[in-house]
Amino acid sequence: MDQLTDAIQRYYDDRAQTYDEWTKRWLNIDRSVMIPHVRHARRLIEFGCGTGLNLLYINQDTEYIGLDVSGQMLKKARHRLRGRAGRVVHTPAFEYNDTARCDIALATFFFSVDPHWERDMKRLVTHVRPGGRVVFIDHCYRNPGAVRKALGGVQYMTCRSNYYRDIKGAMLDCNILITGEDSLGCYGRHFPREVRMFVGIPKKEN
Ligand SMILES: C[S@@+](CC[C@H](N)C(=O)[O-])C[C@H]1O[C@@H](n2cnc3c(N)ncnc32)[C@H](O)[C@@H]1O
Repeated sequence: MDQLTDAIQRYYDDRAQTYDEWTKRWLNIDRSVMIPHVRHARRLIEFGCGTGLNLLYINQDTEYIGLDVSGQMLKKARHRLRGRAGRVVHTPAFEYNDTARCDIALATFFFSVDPHWERDMKRLVTHVRPGGRVVFIDHCYRNPGAVRKALGGVQYMTCRSNYYRDIKGAMLDCNILITGEDSLGCYGRHFPREVRMFVGIPKKEN
């Protein structure tokens, strides 16, 4: 694992105990907006699944594959997955190999903390079956310069100046036809950020 990914792993291992509470307090988006896009999935892969918060919005009978580099975050995800089909895997998302394709590839608040996000988005698309979809939810700071200055950790490494322009550009580079883009609101008093959901269909060339 490279140094940056190693730093991400440590950052989330340290915060795994408080992550759910922190998210509820500071980034309490309505994740149910993803339901119409994920509900028919027979097989779904999630990059950077963290503590498995999205499992609450995915059908019980969907086979779920959650990948994360933080073993501590995964402990919670494993607990949430108990009694359901699928598995969580402790691995950098890029390194996961599987020949079976998925109906849906999901990534929430993942690309914004992943230093290798463009490479990893290309990888994510390879897991989607023809006709399947990608669903991304992420946030973008209104004033990334101030965030970089004030915060350390992953924000320092990954906070980009126009993340939404970047993410759409990367989706196009990955031959993804963007079929939906919705604002899910603005959060945070000190470092305001907007959350958006992107939905897309990878084209056949992938
Ligand atoms: C902000 S959290 C989001 C967790 C979850 N998706 C959610 O919406 O609550 C980002 C997660 O991505 C994981 N992560 C970051 N880079 C990764 C990589 N290259 N491979 C796998 N997981 C990674 C982190 O360990 C962390 O659990």
